[in-house]
Amino acid sequence: MDIVPDSSTPSSAPCDAPCLARRIFVRDAVAAAAAFAGLSSFAPLHELAALSTRSGGVVHYPIPAADGVSIDKKNEVILARTKGEVFAFALSCPHQNTALRVSGKNGGFQCPRHQSRYEPNGTFIDGKATRNMDRLKIEHAGNEIVVDADVVYESDTEPAKWFAASVKL
Ligand code: FES
Repeated sequence: MDIVPDSSTPSSAPCDAPCLARRIFVRDAVAAAAAFAGLSSFAPLHELAALSTRSGGVVHYPIPAADGVSIDKKNEVILARTKGEVFAFALSCPHQNTALRVSGKNGGFQCPRHQSRYEPNGTFIDGKATRNMDRLKIEHAGNEIVVDADVVYESDTEPAKWFAASVKL
């Protein structure tokens, strides 16, 4: 699955508030169009710009308009919406910290190093990993999703917190 760039502004260009709003609009329009066209229940993939500068580990994002995955490489956060729930995952595989990728086969995630596979909600399917994808603390605040990238829940050591780490829309 390809990353959908925002063609309105070079991705490396500085981005003020109107520019960021334009990027978000373009991203959401593409997502809505894809969802309407029935292209996939878990697509497309976007590069995500945080709404505000990270403060400590806290990062703010717009609420995803449709099912799909956004990757914030700068903050190493995967934001995924599936079946009315939004999850924030650590970008790194829980096995040996390789950056995970979206899997075109099951709509979930796959590790390119040892091919561990995960469901869209981060549940481990098979491979060398020994736990689900690590979830991050996530909250719904007004029109935003607020993620604390420094608060990581591992499914094997904090299963209750791991299961609870989602925003239901
Ligand atoms: S690093 Fe991902 S499965 Fe080994």
